[in-house]
Amino acid sequence: MSAHPTPVPSFSRPGGPLKGAVRVPGDKSMSHRALIFGLLAVGETRVQGLLEGEDVLATASAARALGADVTRTGEGEWTVRGVGVGGLTEPAGVLDFGNAGTGSRLMMGVVAGHPVTATFDGDASLRKRPMRRILDPLVQMGARVVSEAEGGRCPITLEGAREAVPVVYETPVASAQIKSAVLLAGLNAPGKTTVIEREASRDHTERMLRHFGAEVEVEPHGPHGRRVTLTGQPELRGSHIVIPADPSSAAFPMVAALVAPGSDVILEGVMMNPLRTGLFATLAEMGADIEVLARASEGGEETADLRVRFSRLKGVDVPAERAPSMIDEYPVLAVAAAFAEGETRMRGLSELRVKESDRLAAIAGGLAQAGVDARIEGDDLIVRGCAGDVRGGGVAATHLDHRIAMSFLVLGLGAREGMKIDDAAMIATSFPAFGPLMAGLGADIVMGGD
Ligand code: S3P
Repeated sequence: MSAHPTPVPSFSRPGGPLKGAVRVPGDKSMSHRALIFGLLAVGETRVQGLLEGEDVLATASAARALGADVTRTGEGEWTVRGVGVGGLTEPAGVLDFGNAGTGSRLMMGVVAGHPVTATFDGDASLRKRPMRRILDPLVQMGARVVSEAEGGRCPITLEGAREAVPVVYETPVASAQIKSAVLLAGLNAPGKTTVIEREASRDHTERMLRHFGAEVEVEPHGPHGRRVTLTGQPELRGSHIVIPADPSSAAFPMVAALVAPGSDVILEGVMMNPLRTGLFATLAEMGADIEVLARASEGGEETADLRVRFSRLKGVDVPAERAPSMIDEYPVLAVAAAFAEGETRMRGLSELRVKESDRLAAIAGGLAQAGVDARIEGDDLIVRGCAGDVRGGGVAATHLDHRIAMSFLVLGLGAREGMKIDDAAMIATSFPAFGPLMAGLGADIVMGGD
């Protein structure tokens, strides 16, 4: 099992306004998928802008173990020579996904549709995360769980189907990971596999399936949902993928600019897929000065340069239906809410309990350390804002969670007494250059200093 052996305690403190233009690394969701589709395609896939974070590198290793030839040709530039749908090799060793929920769950879908057996494992955080939600539909499709840790957790050994069975599956929670696992297993099933979701989750899998040559139909389902149908056993063709900047990583310098007085920052080439931009809409409602500059398109996704200036924020009510479009952004939204005037209520956050950490508890705990009043009521998180005057000064416990770590370092940039975190090591899973990028904007963050 992988782990970071030594924690890296770190701190941040106010150090003047943040200024400059930066491009955050490539989108994590698209990066995992680019490698996975490269594995399942015939011929060569070229990827530009791949996120070279630990989570994605674990997916690259798994793709190799399953038969692909994966090579780094330059910064963010990778090529994958795939095996084609149906052509996986049985891996010789354990597939170690480290901290990566997305990589492990999507690859379970891939394995489930092929007659190979693989063992999935990861770090202490991944070993706590629920996998039944993935295994249940995969078993319906013909896969067999050979062994699992208590409660359907990693390490898990999964035997893929000899002949995968197409299904119609309604996901119990809005989750792109569940949807994608089923669709990936459905790739090697004859006939049509359908996933129904009551709330639309991110659609990168559907977009990439089409890009690689599969037939995918998407219809509306109820007021906010979708019905996605894939025709199985396509020949996926190697492709060229350009990955735009990750909106979930852009969220950190964005909120930092909003809370550090005098800041004026430009975030370049940020992906603006409407199923990912809930945070930007919410911050705008809070009064954030976010200007959309150059709109463009990259790799089949809309992008924009965003200019963000220090703003006086006000508390808002964030509806539960918005959660899927900003599910990874609640930790940093809670930080913005701490600086706002008035209360922010974030509704319907039960899924936050099963992310890299129990994020509801980790956010509330960290805010309490910073002297901010936050409470959990059922599945809602309520933060009482300090109208720009956050005390800070405590130590946030990060529980092996990169987004909790970055969020509290952002808080410290605007808080009177700064902020400490117990461990910054996990930031490397999704945003390895976070420290230098923030320093380039003028942020006073000391990684590895307490
Ligand atoms: C992801 C989906 C989300 C998100 C995760 C990435 C993906 O999880 O939290 O960071 O790439 O499919 P769920 O779909 O399980 O909510």
